[in-house]
Amino acid sequence: MPAELIDGTAIAARIRGEVSAEVATLKASGVVPRLTVVLIGDDPASAVYVAGKGRACVEVGMDENTIRLPASTSQHELMELLDCLNADPAVHGILVQSPFPKQIDPGAVIRRIDPSKDVDGFHPVNVGKLLAGDRDGFVPCTPAGIQELLRASNVATHGLHCVVVGRSNIVGKPMAALMVQDGPTANCTVTICHRYTRNLASFTRSADILITAVGRPGLITAEMVKPGAAVLDVGITRIPDATRKSGTRLVGDVDFEAVREVAGLITPVPGGVGPMTIAMLLRNTVRAAQRLAAA
Ligand code: GUN
Repeated sequence: MPAELIDGTAIAARIRGEVSAEVATLKASGVVPRLTVVLIGDDPASAVYVAGKGRACVEVGMDENTIRLPASTSQHELMELLDCLNADPAVHGILVQSPFPKQIDPGAVIRRIDPSKDVDGFHPVNVGKLLAGDRDGFVPCTPAGIQELLRASNVATHGLHCVVVGRSNIVGKPMAALMVQDGPTANCTVTICHRYTRNLASFTRSADILITAVGRPGLITAEMVKPGAAVLDVGITRIPDATRKSGTRLVGDVDFEAVREVAGLITPVPGGVGPMTIAMLLRNTVRAAQRLAAA
């Protein structure tokens, strides 16, 4: 029997509905949650992502403003802008879209954002809170979204082996930290695999939950998946496809059609993990506003 599909679009819509209600409550008390996105340069993919984030904010009733800076922006100019946004009480969430132009030091940018406005969850204070199991911090949006997908799909994660393929700071490492935590939809035994892992299949085949985030289409084949496993695919790569009007299509890291015959649960690409990232960004922003309002 083919795997059950995890419908990320529907689960994200439910979360956006919950966020809308929380925004309405905040607005009734005079607080309009605001996300400020900083976009440096003219990377077309980043422009598309940022536009999506902006639209989503507006749909749930939040304020959004995108500050577009030229690719020539200096580190100093960006730092000054971040200081202004940190000090502005009307701004609840700050997100600087990556990748950055070469002259910008990504680590310095992340460290400059006030951790209480770091809705990406990338600041070392938030990373530390995640590792320490302190629920006070902001959790990076994609891993938080994947945990929500597992929760919504009623996966009893306790004691399962969760294998994360990819060790990025945005997805792989925080994902592993979340799943190893002592708490609901966690308590897994976690393995992180990466480009130097020897015999990747020997790890993926023992995964009850397999999460892949590397951006390599077709990396995960049916033989690499344990029958009945939950497979969550973060990869999103545009490949040529002559059968499509656009001439391209989006694919994940998983050989979807073949793995679907083996797995118990699987996320499609698109429509799986992707919609959750924005939903969790909205949730983080409304939390930031709630905390500021309560302070
Ligand atoms: N670029 C790609 N994904 C992300 C993300 O989640 N946050 C930021 N700030 N930049 C990104």
